[in-house]
Amino acid sequence: MLNTRPRTAAPRSGRPAVRPTGEERSFPADELIVSKTDPRGVITYANDVFLRVGAYSLDEVIGQPHNLIRHPDMPRAVFKLLWDTLAARQELFAYVNNLAADGANYWVLAHVTPSYGPDGSVVGYHSSRRRPSPRALDRVRPLYERLLVEERRHPNARAAVAASSELLDRLIAEQAASYEDFVWTVIGQEEN
Ligand SMILES: Cc1cc2nc3c(=O)[nH]c(=O)nc-3n(C[C@H](O)[C@H](O)[C@H](O)COP(=O)(O)O)c2cc1C
Repeated sequence: MLNTRPRTAAPRSGRPAVRPTGEERSFPADELIVSKTDPRGVITYANDVFLRVGAYSLDEVIGQPHNLIRHPDMPRAVFKLLWDTLAARQELFAYVNNLAADGANYWVLAHVTPSYGPDGSVVGYHSSRRRPSPRALDRVRPLYERLLVEERRHPNARAAVAASSELLDRLIAEQAASYEDFVWTVIGQEEN
């Protein structure tokens, strides 16, 4: 029961899709973008940096599924890894490209953790994000682009995510022991 993967919340119907403009936005290195969700990924908290960088008001995000800020160029395989890791009650560091309400995009290095209730059950998740360095993104962008190309070769989402998850495992194995290890390698390079 404890490790059962929750069904993620469906996007609210009627919400107009935000179209990416290609404008890339950044935020100061000393700021953290924070949000919390319920176990299905519905947003229950967002800090002021989340709102400012994402160009949303609090009312627009609370109660919405977290894919509200999903960028269409983010590979599905990364989100599968995220949810599989959380379902195993583990935390994850991941590079994510997000979409703001005005169509700008902003890259983050996210640290996502489960939150537990008094009985040990998962009551939600918490994500703290900081600004990645341009050097880190030089490593991450080509990796995600290859995953995306693979995903677009497949007619349905299930086949796409299966193929790109396999490719992610293969590409990561060429350079690191795991995705987490890859992230730490990239973070290490940021400081040099
Ligand atoms: C705590 C938490 C934070 C998340 N943060 C983001 C985020 O910043 N950007 C994003 O696209 N998805 C984020 N997600 C994942 C979304 O819930 C969702 O799985 C993802 O956007 C893929 O959406 P899709 O399944 O509709 O393609 C987060 C999930 C959790 C639990």
